[in-house]
Amino acid sequence: MKPGFLIRALNGGLGWVNERAPGMMPAYRKHMTEYYAPKNFNLWYYFGSLALLVLVNQIVTGIFLTMHYKPDASLNEFGIPHAFWSVENTIMRDVDGGAIIRYMHSTGASLFFVVVYLHMFRGLIYGSYQKPRELVWVIGMLIFLVLMAEAFMGYVLPWGQMSYWGAQVIINLFGAIPGIGEGLTEWIRGDYLVADATLNRFFALHVIALPLVLLLLVVLHLGALHEVGSNNPEGVDIKKVKDKETGIPKDGIPFHPYYTVKDLFGAGFFMIIAAFIIFFTPAMGGWFLEWDNFIAANPMVTPEHIKPVWYFTPFYAMLRAIPDKLFGVIVMGGATMILFLLPWLDKSPVKSIRYRPMLHKLLIAIFAVGFVVLGWLGAQSGSDTQKLVAQILTFYYFAFFISMPFWSRMGQFKAVPDRVPAHD
Ligand code: HEM
Repeated sequence: MKPGFLIRALNGGLGWVNERAPGMMPAYRKHMTEYYAPKNFNLWYYFGSLALLVLVNQIVTGIFLTMHYKPDASLNEFGIPHAFWSVENTIMRDVDGGAIIRYMHSTGASLFFVVVYLHMFRGLIYGSYQKPRELVWVIGMLIFLVLMAEAFMGYVLPWGQMSYWGAQVIINLFGAIPGIGEGLTEWIRGDYLVADATLNRFFALHVIALPLVLLLLVVLHLGALHEVGSNNPEGVDIKKVKDKETGIPKDGIPFHPYYTVKDLFGAGFFMIIAAFIIFFTPAMGGWFLEWDNFIAANPMVTPEHIKPVWYFTPFYAMLRAIPDKLFGVIVMGGATMILFLLPWLDKSPVKSIRYRPMLHKLLIAIFAVGFVVLGWLGAQSGSDTQKLVAQILTFYYFAFFISMPFWSRMGQFKAVPDRVPAHD
């Protein structure tokens, strides 16, 4: 049967492009139809594609928000800062669909971190950062740092109380650096206190500079991954056993259509959850959007508890756990920086947690629970007991990594098979 008009037009169009850009189809094949991914990806492998989905959501909704947002800290005729008004009145009330777009963006920011934290945790339990994927991990960590800066600056833009005071606290942390601290904070703010100049530069960085860096890093992240191929829940190297005739890994399947379809299913499920939050509980009980941020920024009134959004609270809890300011800043910074070293700290002869001794499973489980508890503590008022628990957990966090070169070699490892086992 002759193909229909649409198919013929499409083929014709593709042929036309191919003649003029002959490198395009080979690149498509290399990264999609002939990228052989392990056949045993599980739930944990959804989060990479979900992170991509959220990134696209942030960019698209961000563009629409930018059309109505005003990065201006001066007061309007009602005595409200233009920036706050443009979000809470113009976008939330006047613009058609504005509230949905805003909530898609604010919920997207939180879900970005949910997805990225789970994505990183997958790396930890399956040893995805181990040789030869160290570069994938290091680029991932750069993404994580840029993402934190991007989220922090985005949170300042609505110019609510928490935007203002959060920025004040975080920027002041740089003041702890001996010698240059004072000058540095002034340079970041562009003024003697958080002000219009700060808002303007954060806007520029948030809407264009950091997203560009983020996009570039994501391309590099995937490029680095496709050079070496994906790991999998068994930690088996699928390139070890290839079909003699075709040279294709026996445990590999083409990324497209198999994983594009699987990822689409995951995306559908994820979007249902996201839609539920966006429609019914966008502030998420004050966790995604803090109540104090529904009040316009007022440099004369400090909120009762200044705290960052949940995705920063584990690190914030570490900062508060340390009585000395400079040491606290070092500990907080060190907590993220140490993650860069993970590929070299982990000396385990096997990748996946499935083949590791009980001791490793236990230490990793305590680490995960400890991190979540730190997150909860960072959002609390910080009583003496809470501070003590935060100190113990901060100690565990660092001890986990620093002693990793020792404990990761210890215990009875199971033998890793050459092929993905049948149960997978
Ligand atoms: C915008 C943020 C990010 C995006 C869009 C992204 C995207 C992806 C995608 C699509 C994959 C392949 C599918 C998968 O394995 O799930 C992947 C793999 C990977 N990512 Fe990311 N990623 C991001 C952030 C990070 C971060 C923050 C880290 C760690 C610090 C990281 C570490 C890794 C590793 C180690 C792999 C290989 C996993 C394996 O083969 O088992 N990524 N990433």
